[in-house]
Amino acid sequence: MAQTPQTPASPSSPVCYASEADDAYMGFATRDELVAALNELLEAERAGAYVARASLNDAPPEMADLLKSIAADEARWCAMLTAQLERLSASPSAKRGAFAEKAMAIADPHARLLFLNRGQNWVVRKLAELMPKVRDDALHAALREMSESHVHNIDAAARALESD
Ligand SMILES: [Fe+2]
Repeated sequence: MAQTPQTPASPSSPVCYASEADDAYMGFATRDELVAALNELLEAERAGAYVARASLNDAPPEMADLLKSIAADEARWCAMLTAQLERLSASPSAKRGAFAEKAMAIADPHARLLFLNRGQNWVVRKLAELMPKVRDDALHAALREMSESHVHNIDAAARALESD
């Protein structure tokens, strides 16, 4: 998104309003749409980090390295999304997605990892929908890296589940 010029900022600034209207007209997400989408992803990543960490308590030892690496990645993307929301002068959500409770209700660690992987696929789909609407190069690059990392982790988890 183009930065507004360093003129006295006001929510009703005509420059800001025109930029938002142009973004929407050209098919780019408005700032509010970006904030909503990034916060939804942040809540999902926080849920994923929680599930991966909590699963270390009951998962078989051979799943530990994978769960630790998923938890570390999810925490990394929480930090990225938080920083991007702050760049947009938005408040990062403090919530954890409802996915966490649904996942932890699954008693079997393998079935839970499968469910976690479905959640990761949901994130990849959300990112694929969002990226074409992102004009800002830095945000676009960060989201693409997040998507590629998720695809990599989904494959690793799927291989681990197959080898059991
Ligand atoms: Fe994730």
